[in-house]
Amino acid sequence: MTASIIDGKAFAAELRGKVAGHVARLAADHGVVPGLAVVLVGEDPASQVYVGSKGKMTVEVGMRSFTHRLAADTDEARLLGLIQTLNNDPEVHGILVQLPLPAHLDSDLVINAIDPAKDVDGFHISNVGLLATGQKAMVPCTPLGCLLMLRAHHGSLSGMEAVVIGRSNIVGKPMAQLLLGESCTVTMAHSRTRDLAAVVRRADIVVAAVGRARMVPGDWIKPGATVIDVGINRVDAGEGKTRLVGDVDFDSAAAVAGAITPVPGGVGPMTIACLLANTVTACCRAHGLPEPEGLTV
Ligand code: GUN
Repeated sequence: MTASIIDGKAFAAELRGKVAGHVARLAADHGVVPGLAVVLVGEDPASQVYVGSKGKMTVEVGMRSFTHRLAADTDEARLLGLIQTLNNDPEVHGILVQLPLPAHLDSDLVINAIDPAKDVDGFHISNVGLLATGQKAMVPCTPLGCLLMLRAHHGSLSGMEAVVIGRSNIVGKPMAQLLLGESCTVTMAHSRTRDLAAVVRRADIVVAAVGRARMVPGDWIKPGATVIDVGINRVDAGEGKTRLVGDVDFDSAAAVAGAITPVPGGVGPMTIACLLANTVTACCRAHGLPEPEGLTV
């Protein structure tokens, strides 16, 4: 193996430590406690796990956590009513509606009902537009986590060739915007891209966010490139067991890359840490206080 491992778990613990320090200072100096409301509709097992750990980590850094679990058949009016209540609640600085929503609910409509200043996911069209135009936005948590790790590893990313595989609103598109903002030359690749191998071989930075287990083999990676693996895919591990793997074939990629994030323990832990960081940022903006350095871009 040639690649150094980008330890997202350690990185996330450090970021949560910084967040906890800022939370303590906000309480001591201003009597303000940041609050995060998480809304879960239905009983999707993976979403329940995510929402549980979000609540736990919110409390661990000293913030208030408000979790709203609604039945799978909750109607649109009820959900919009809850969002309105949270928009108007001064103790709530961040609102996150866990996706995916049940099929009968229009997620665009629901997301755009959130006050953009409280949209700690950065999914509201106002935040998407602010990010795209290089203005101060709430930045989506997973791409923010990827960028903080890339910056820590490289310092300046200016002029680097970056290839983002996957064009989702949650990861691929905002990731590309952030890399453009860092002056990378950005290529967005996706399921219809011709000769994906040749496109990926150009990249100094590869961000894989497609949700297909080990689809990027090591021989697509330029020697020395940095590989950020956003995929979390459950695969059969034999003997009735399963395990998590990324979108990149770790073993073959680590043999040629300069640096790589593992799965698990790479991007995943950074996502919740960035959610907590975004909640502190939103809280400071809401109270007209200076924003802590290093929590966002
Ligand atoms: N589901 C998967 N990823 C995310 C995320 O980043 N935010 C929300 N709200 N739901 C998700």
